[in-house]
Amino acid sequence: MPGENGKLRSEDWFGRNDKLGFLHRSWMRAEGFPGSVFSGKPVIGICNSWSELTNCNAHLRQVAEAVKRGVWSAGGFPLEFPTISLGEPFMRPSSMMFRNLMAMDVEESIRANPLDGVVLLCGCDKTTPAQLMGAASADLPSIFVTGGPMLKGRWKDRQLGSGTDLWHYWDELRAGRITHEEMCEIECGMSRSAGHCMVMGTASTMTSIAEALGMTLTGCANIPAADSRRYEIAHRSGERIVEMVREDLRPSKILTREAIENAVRVDMAIGGSTNAIIHLKALAGRLGVDLPLERFDEISRETAVVANIQPSGEHLMEDMFYAGGIPVVMNDLLDQLNGECITVTGRTISENVRGSECHDRDVLRSRHRALQPEGGTVILRGNLCPRGAVLKTSAASRDLLQHTGRAVVFEDHEDLMRRIDLADLEVDGESVLVLKNGGPVGAPGMPEYGNLPIPAKLLKRGVRDMLRISDARMSGTGYGTVVLHVSPESAVGGPLALARTGDLVRLDTAGRRLDLLVDDGELRRRKQAWDPRPAHYDRGFGKLFLESVMQADEGCDFRFLRSTGTAEPFLPLAF
Ligand code: FES
Repeated sequence: MPGENGKLRSEDWFGRNDKLGFLHRSWMRAEGFPGSVFSGKPVIGICNSWSELTNCNAHLRQVAEAVKRGVWSAGGFPLEFPTISLGEPFMRPSSMMFRNLMAMDVEESIRANPLDGVVLLCGCDKTTPAQLMGAASADLPSIFVTGGPMLKGRWKDRQLGSGTDLWHYWDELRAGRITHEEMCEIECGMSRSAGHCMVMGTASTMTSIAEALGMTLTGCANIPAADSRRYEIAHRSGERIVEMVREDLRPSKILTREAIENAVRVDMAIGGSTNAIIHLKALAGRLGVDLPLERFDEISRETAVVANIQPSGEHLMEDMFYAGGIPVVMNDLLDQLNGECITVTGRTISENVRGSECHDRDVLRSRHRALQPEGGTVILRGNLCPRGAVLKTSAASRDLLQHTGRAVVFEDHEDLMRRIDLADLEVDGESVLVLKNGGPVGAPGMPEYGNLPIPAKLLKRGVRDMLRISDARMSGTGYGTVVLHVSPESAVGGPLALARTGDLVRLDTAGRRLDLLVDDGELRRRKQAWDPRPAHYDRGFGKLFLESVMQADEGCDFRFLRSTGTAEPFLPLAF
């Protein structure tokens, strides 16, 4: 049994024979619950990121009902509660700006309430890392139920991948290869069901990572949202959390350094979104785990990309589920994983996945037929990114991985949008597009501006990729030779702030270098003449964000939310 003397945490609210006990039981009876729910049943919070403004999570109320059935049937008492939700397509300036706010909401909602365990429902990009961070900091027994990917998109005889095919067909429209009417048909055929984006974007990556970390039941992440098995696994997760409370199986026992390294390896094997690096760095910071950026690169070099899923490959998440999903990926990787890590099932990773059978080796490749022999992500250093930058090589053009070109610099996103398609923009296919002020402080909120559009006049000449560099992020559905997360960012005086149109930039992927070929004396002169821009906010959450956010190489968490190594106090109730 959990807690001191085997006592449930919730008994401190509902099991008392004093005025407070009366208050807590009486007010809960207002919802129609009978006295039997207060007889020592584990109270299970269902932390729901449902919102009609988060289309990817709009089915999570039904998922919550399935979780509740499981909790009741296992002898628990389920109570669903909302937190803020983060809808990727809508939130401005960026959903990323609010990830830490949601993580705080999740953490404090768990800690402040009479809960013994939590089932967390997530899906859209930032909702999964926000819940992971919040649950890790609150450290009550927790299990994740992800919402699952949408069904495959379809247009004419072609499949459509969320985001990835938006970028693709938008360029086709700008190049005059498809009509506006056809673009409308594509719009109608892309998002056909409930669920999150169904390519290996950030949502599919982070939900897969939740499973790789051991925070979901085995096989949860890739079940399509519309599949009845999504509701079955939600039911079973509800049953399991009641047992986890009895076993006192908390995130701190699951989210170890070894588990995080497993997640990094799976991320590399599936060609996951670059955003995962930021979120895993933030999660590691919450747990007091030192996770240098170079560890991502080391693991990447040792790990083949095996998931043939867009944007790195051809297929979609529905195909990945039919092929066997994350259990197959992890089974194939077992010799490279920390197989002894414990998971929410109460068993180890090895016990969960060993023997998982692959049903489609074109979708989930064996290592000797891998999409790429090395992982999909490299970490760059150099005078343009002394604290690091990220390049997703699995979605990049081979011929641009070693490249030197003349910079065409945009001061911010507005400048980019104003000039990128001008006929007199001095740019050619060898140029390097550089965007400043796209970082956590500069944009603000580090939006997904990173895959800068190819200038229309070059698209018409058949150019489909160029080297692009910024301190912004990129949608996990995006592709191209795109260097991201340049740290420190330009808005805080990082070297990117000093780049000018006409400078030569060299990308040496093999040597893991990104350099501005300008001599040190000239860079010093430019730095002396550099002035920061005015802050975007002088009040509210925006001000807190600007004052507290760390750089991309540290995961963009707030400084004050990182682990201090000391246990959170459990404060007495007062009335
Ligand atoms: Fe929610 Fe893509 S918009 S996952």
